Amino acid sequence: MTKIETCLFDLDGVIVDTAVYHYKAWKRLANDLGFDFTEQQNEKLKGISRARSLELILEWGGVEKTELERAELATRKNQWYVDMINNMQPDEILPGTEDFLKALKAGGYKIGLGSASKNSGAILQKVGLKSYFDAVVDGNVVTTSKPDPEVFLKGAELLGVDPAACVVFEDAIAGVAAAKAGGMKVVGIGEPAVLTGADLVVSGLDQMDIHKLKALES
Ligand code: BG6
Ligand code: MG
Repeated sequence: MTKIETCLFDLDGVIVDTAVYHYKAWKRLANDLGFDFTEQQNEKLKGISRARSLELILEWGGVEKTELERAELATRKNQWYVDMINNMQPDEILPGTEDFLKALKAGGYKIGLGSASKNSGAILQKVGLKSYFDAVVDGNVVTTSKPDPEVFLKGAELLGVDPAACVVFEDAIAGVAAAKAGGMKVVGIGEPAVLTGADLVVSGLDQMDIHKLKALES
C-alpha cells in the first residue's frame, strides 16, 4: 500500500471557475477576427495552453496567422483576461475548496498546484489561497502541456514525494491523462461519463474529505 502524502490541484475549473473569463476573452478575439466562438468550443480548451488554444481557435475560424501575429493575438487575449481576473473576489472560489485545503493542512498533507495557466500565481493571490500551497508549478515553468505529466511530476519533485504518493484533482480530460501518465491517483472534478480515466469522480471539492482521500490508497 502506498500512503498518500500529497495533493496536487489543477486551478481553472477545480479551485476557481475562470472558464467563463477565458471564454469571454477568446470570443472577443474571435469576433474581432470576423468569426464566432462557442461555449462548446471553449469546453475543448480546458487544460490546454494559451498558445495551443489560439492555434485551435484560428483553425476553427479558418484563419491563418504568422507566428509573430499569433504572439500578438495571444497577448491581446491575455490582457482582456487579466483585466477580468483582476476583479475576482474570494467568493469566486469554488464551493468546498478552502475547507478541504484546511483539512489537508490539519492532516499533514503537502499541497501543490499543477496548472497550465501562466496567471495562476496572480489568481491564487487575488482569491487569497496562495498561503495554502507548498509548491506552485504552472505554465511559466513547464515546457510540455497536459496530457504530458511534466507539470505534476515537477510538483512531486519540488515537494520531495514519490508520484505514487500523490493525488491529482483535475477537471480536464487532458489533466486526468497527465496525472495517470505520471503514475499518480486522480480525482476527476466533473462528470464520471467524461472523466473516465479517473480513480474517483466528484462534482466538486465540496464532495471531498480525508476519508475519501484515504480510500484511494492501495
Ligand atoms: C488552463 C485552462 O488551466 O490554463 C485553459 O484550463 C487555459 O483554458 C490555460 O488556456 C492557460 O491559461 P493562461 O492563464 O496562461 O492563459
Ligand atoms: Mg482545469
